[in-house]
Amino acid sequence: MGVEEFDFAHAPEHERRDLYEVLAASEAEELREAAPYEHQITGWQSPNDLGFGPARFAVAREGEQIVGYVSARVTEEAANDHIALVYIVVLPEFRRRGIGTALLHALPSLMPGRTVAECWNVYEGTAGEHFAAARGLRIVTSMTRQRLNVTELPEIGEVPAGYELVTWTGRTPDEFAQVCVDGLNAMSDAPFGDTALDSAGYTVDRLRREESNVLDAGGDRWVVLALRGREIAGLTIVERGPGDPATAEQLHTVVVPAHRGRGLGMVLKARMLHELTGVEVIFTRTSSGNEHMLRVNHALGYRDLYTYLAVQAKS
Ligand SMILES: CC(C)(COP(=O)(O)OP(=O)(O)OC[C@H]1O[C@@H](n2cnc3c(N)ncnc32)[C@H](O)[C@@H]1OP(=O)(O)O)[C@@H](O)C(=O)NCCC(=O)NCCS
Repeated sequence: MGVEEFDFAHAPEHERRDLYEVLAASEAEELREAAPYEHQITGWQSPNDLGFGPARFAVAREGEQIVGYVSARVTEEAANDHIALVYIVVLPEFRRRGIGTALLHALPSLMPGRTVAECWNVYEGTAGEHFAAARGLRIVTSMTRQRLNVTELPEIGEVPAGYELVTWTGRTPDEFAQVCVDGLNAMSDAPFGDTALDSAGYTVDRLRREESNVLDAGGDRWVVLALRGREIAGLTIVERGPGDPATAEQLHTVVVPAHRGRGLGMVLKARMLHELTGVEVIFTRTSSGNEHMLRVNHALGYRDLYTYLAVQAKS
């Protein structure tokens, strides 16, 4: 068995497919379904929804066959330029032979200059959790994945007195860019455990880059803002990648501390559901400790799918 870097951009089609098959076999083993091939390939080549760049890979081979890979995404954004988001996966029939460990050792070359690696896809009670523990990776948080089948739309409910909702699709109008940034930066107190990820640290430039990542790739982005006068009270954002118009991801929802306790989170998210066009399924992820947000999502019809862990290694 050997481990080598894998030049995804120039890899022949059959090798890309082998890479995908490693992921699909592992997902199937844990009774999840991998994204369809084309979506996964596009996803690997595109920045993720936190603005981390395309995935870089090293693969483990037995002879010619790809039997496992490690992927890493890094970002140049100052808030997160010390961290890589990583994933290691080995074909089920090749496990417990040290391949996962060899891939872990190949990681530094994929994340030059970064000192923290975090993996956000470790499912509780699986081989991944045991492997992480055996190799000294620390659990930093637990997340709940939820899904909403959009059948009937919820009542939006009354917007609390003194507040107004503003919505748009696509790029943020210039007049709202700074208030959006202020709202996103109010996420700094969201309960994400001990992650090194800075989910705040927004600037207008970063906001614009994140918008471009999804819009330039042919995706969509919806925003609902709650304002009190000119001041931001809360916001919620949904994105839809290119390729699957029926499925979207509910991303950040934040209510600024001074405006909490008035039901704005519910109103924002309910209103969002009325804005989306053509979306049949929405996924979201929430910290398992964020009881308030989980409750809001349940009230909107989201169902819990599974819990997963984020684990971390620091050099
Ligand atoms: C996690 C994963 C990559 C490990 O790959 P692997 O090639 O089996 O890993 P290794 O053989 O190097 O295992 C190293 C050690 O981890 C521990 N370990 C790995 N799998 C384990 C399991 N199923 N149960 C208990 N311990 C396990 C053991 O201590 C093992 O050493 P040992 O075999 O000498 O006892 C593989 O199980 C996988 O692809 N899982 C699904 C993807 C995933 O969860 N990735 C998250 C990685 S952080």
